[in-house]
Amino acid sequence: MTISIIGHGYVGLVTACVFADFGNDVWVIGHTKEKIDRLRKGDPIIYEPGLGELLQKNIKAKRLHFSVNYDSIAGSEIVFITVGTPPKENGEADLSAVFEVARNIAKNLSDSKKHFTIVSCKSTVPVGTNKKVEAILSKHSSKNAKFSIASCPEFLREGTAIHDTINADRVVIGSNSKRAIDVLLKLHESINGKRVITDLASAELIKYISNAMLATKISFANLVSFFAEKVNADVEDVLDAVGLDKRIGRIFMNPGVGYGGSCLPKDVMALIDVGKKLNVESNFLTEIEHINLFAKKNFVNKILKNSPGKKVAIWGLAFKPNTDDIRFAPSIYIIEELLKEGFSISVYDQEASNNIKKIFADKIRYASSAYECLQGANSLIILTEWNEFKQINLDKVKKMIKDPVIFDGRNIYDPMTVRKLGFKYYSVGRP
Ligand code: UDX
Repeated sequence: MTISIIGHGYVGLVTACVFADFGNDVWVIGHTKEKIDRLRKGDPIIYEPGLGELLQKNIKAKRLHFSVNYDSIAGSEIVFITVGTPPKENGEADLSAVFEVARNIAKNLSDSKKHFTIVSCKSTVPVGTNKKVEAILSKHSSKNAKFSIASCPEFLREGTAIHDTINADRVVIGSNSKRAIDVLLKLHESINGKRVITDLASAELIKYISNAMLATKISFANLVSFFAEKVNADVEDVLDAVGLDKRIGRIFMNPGVGYGGSCLPKDVMALIDVGKKLNVESNFLTEIEHINLFAKKNFVNKILKNSPGKKVAIWGLAFKPNTDDIRFAPSIYIIEELLKEGFSISVYDQEASNNIKKIFADKIRYASSAYECLQGANSLIILTEWNEFKQINLDKVKKMIKDPVIFDGRNIYDPMTVRKLGFKYYSVGRP
């Protein structure tokens, strides 16, 4: 098939590479010439494991093309919208990019008698948005253009995006058009996962509810950690035992410094906003956010109370490992709070330092290695569970750091082992 994908973020670019790799002819459309030029040369722009190789392979095979104009729309059977829907100040999803893209698609839809286009939204959008996209397409396209719309939400996780796209738990297709459903089912033939065929509104809601449920699990785990800290219990033992109940499960219930990233925080906010508009009592969702904020505050308080001095080293800045993404990363809040308290901070992250530099510039120091980051520090703070920290030589860490104190926001070490090595060790929800 020939498909066009508008947007080249984590969803757009990964989707493009995967479908190109399955033999489709894929056009990626963006509006920043500099980025499109870099992509054309095989530079993925973002850090996502395996993405560079897949990109270069499919450019070489001439199945993957990049453009700043919408010319490819006229020859495409499917057009995916994958642009961002960031939160506005009030939490509402900003849909301006989706609507602008819809207008541009409309103006370029083929009006040939033989051509039929499926326009499918992968961006996370509130219920009803696809109907608005359909209205924009009708208004701005030639009256002979034939098209149907569909919602095809994406569930990939950053860091494992390629694997998740190919091995999905489910492929959700929401549309009122049988033709759209059939064409999208055909495109997804090589993608693993159960098919869920539904209507537009349900498909739109499925994405928000999935992310809200994931956020709920994490906030619940963090809530358990607050209880555990008060009574000197071990949150990991508690959750391990609770999770053995198959109705509950242990997966995605790791306490820490709260959830971040481009999806969970934004989608919980947007669902709260939708709840207000629809008059749905959704304080429950607000509590999920409160707990998430408290997880970060609680961790900062631990540092303020127990750090022997005001010079700290931070390992891990990305909102999770295997990504350079820092959107809503807990590290941003924690660095801001420590700076307010007069701390001097040096940071290390193998991928995300350059992005953090755009926020904090010369207010903090950027180290080139985990060990170098420790020089002169009164304590070490771990905010992202990158593999390289898990089995690092802690004897060497002890030699390099001024005071042997660790604040572990991701519970990556065994408390007994670290203490035996002579560290004071503060983790989340463990005695
Ligand atoms: C999420 C959803 O998982 C994915 O299905 C959707 O398509 C996009 O949003 P992503 O944002 O890439 O994916 O990251 P995810 O793995 O969900 O982690 C989100 C945040 O939650 C991270 O900050 C992570 O550290 C945190 N987290 C995750 C926890 O604190 N505890 C956990 O048990 C799991």
